[in-house]
Amino acid sequence: MVRVTTEDRRMNRYNDEPTGSPLPETRPHPRPPIAPDLATIKGGKGGVFYRAHSYHTKVPVEGIVRLLEHYTEPGDFVADPFCGSGQTGVAAILTGRHAVLSDLSPAAVHIAKGYTTQVDPRAFRLAGSQLLERLADTEQSLYGRGANRVEYTVWSDEYECPECSTKISFWDHAVDHAAGTLSKTLTCPRGHGPFKKADTPWVRSVPVQQNISLPGVRSRTVRDLLGDDREPDSGPLPDDWFPTTPWEPWREMWRAQHDRMGIATAADFYTSKNLAALAALWREIGSINDENARDALRFAFTSIVNRASRRYQWHPSRPTNVLSSTMYIASLNYEFNVFSLLRRKLATLEKMYEATWSAPGTCAVRQSSATDLGWLADDSVDYVFTDPPFGSNIFYGDSSFLWESWLGEHTDVGAETVVNRRLDASHGRTDLAEYEKAMASAMCETARVLRPNGWLSLQFHNSDDAVWSSVQSAVESADLQMRAAVVMDKGQKSFKGLRHASRGERVANFDLVMHLEQTTRPSAATPQTPQDRSAVANELKRCIEGKPASQRTTPWLHSQVMRYLLENGADLRGWSFAAVEKLCSELFDRKGTAWTTRN
Ligand SMILES: C[S@@+](CC[C@H](N)C(=O)[O-])C[C@H]1O[C@@H](n2cnc3c(N)ncnc32)[C@H](O)[C@@H]1O
Repeated sequence: MVRVTTEDRRMNRYNDEPTGSPLPETRPHPRPPIAPDLATIKGGKGGVFYRAHSYHTKVPVEGIVRLLEHYTEPGDFVADPFCGSGQTGVAAILTGRHAVLSDLSPAAVHIAKGYTTQVDPRAFRLAGSQLLERLADTEQSLYGRGANRVEYTVWSDEYECPECSTKISFWDHAVDHAAGTLSKTLTCPRGHGPFKKADTPWVRSVPVQQNISLPGVRSRTVRDLLGDDREPDSGPLPDDWFPTTPWEPWREMWRAQHDRMGIATAADFYTSKNLAALAALWREIGSINDENARDALRFAFTSIVNRASRRYQWHPSRPTNVLSSTMYIASLNYEFNVFSLLRRKLATLEKMYEATWSAPGTCAVRQSSATDLGWLADDSVDYVFTDPPFGSNIFYGDSSFLWESWLGEHTDVGAETVVNRRLDASHGRTDLAEYEKAMASAMCETARVLRPNGWLSLQFHNSDDAVWSSVQSAVESADLQMRAAVVMDKGQKSFKGLRHASRGERVANFDLVMHLEQTTRPSAATPQTPQDRSAVANELKRCIEGKPASQRTTPWLHSQVMRYLLENGADLRGWSFAAVEKLCSELFDRKGTAWTTRN
């Protein structure tokens, strides 16, 4: 195993990885925790770094930059052992720090490397346009040319009436195009029903509408073009290699729907047209000799493979996206022109490379579990920012399935630090106790590599008090001292957050960043004192005073209660999302989703 020693740091090298400018001498970091207003990681979702490549729960770079500027000096080393897409590395590059990142997942390592490899933007533009030129005929044969080029096709499911076997088109019978709404049930043209989708046999998926490039013609129905007897455009399977990794029932995100629709491998998540386009691109990128250009274009490729799949839902009135917490295929979905997706992505990535190409920092990325950072020496890192998995919120290996199928390497899902729901023991099921143990190892490893007086900012998000309690115990077992906790509004609501706003669903919207110090100086708070209900009630009253409605909702207040208890070293158990909501209902009146002071 490659180990980075303190001496290596002083000699300015991480064995095989170049690290840039000389390091300052080891010095104490007698810094206070960052002030709450500076620590608020808000916005950033429209920025080029956010848009370059998707990843599950990506942290905006702008927020990490502020943390690095507070806790470190240029030339310092920062680590992120659950790095995901590598935003900590991007922040380090932009601010002249040296980042060492790691993640268990091959997809995360690929994406983090893509984000943090400094690529000449002009060379990238040339490589991208040459790639598109070489595949111009393929594009034309798949999507047409000029003004008639198809930008996307909408596909609709067809079902069979359980009573009379008549065909039920979802597009014709479940979409109210004028109102912009979708029905949850199906009624057959002969009046039978309504039936739940799950109880209605699925027959096939057919194209129903196309959007073309012709100015002034936004869309045309496929029925207009092909008549009523249209056949699904299944097309032949491509000659090029494409991924056939099995999508199996033991996985967390497998659903009976996949079985009903015959989705058995990675390839089945694509229409054959898009599979052919992607396979041709993958082949052509693989044939590029220049390693930098090849890797950067592979990064561009993976940035479109989810959007290009059947996972991209169509809705008559609202914009949609690919949801990372599910492999669900909606009854109406997009078949986007793969080359148009790529053209847009190449332009975004070029802008990103313009920003990082001559930036002063460096970044190295490894595939490794956070529970064993053996390749980093004791006291070798000045600051850690990390965002670990939040209990059962996201199953990363499954969410990254399509990326990893193209890359040909899959996450060991049994080694993920998550709380499994349906994974069985033979595939490495992890329960809450094992999750806590793995988090404790990760925190102990983090404390070991952090230099004395170094800081760890730990971002976390969950509505379950038992998961919170596990994280609290893990932090305590590593002897890291809690100095502050800041509630963070990431700007844009998550899908679950949106559901909360519309239907009052019980989910937490906000993350909390705990600021922990690696020191023998104990916290002011006594650890694990029992929580005091009236003290929490007073804190809730203080929190809603003079605040806008968005900061008087249960998700926001639940995060505030977590912050308050953590800062006071109190026991988090018993303070679930539901418990906070119950206390709010005893103390306040509800107006919509916001709580107001009772007169
Ligand atoms: C919340 S995400 C991090 C997202 C990241 N902050 C970003 O902005 O993209 C958590 C990450 O932890 C990784 N992970 C899960 N278990 C792990 C383990 N035992 N060791 C290292 N990484 C792990 C997942 O693959 C995932 O990328």
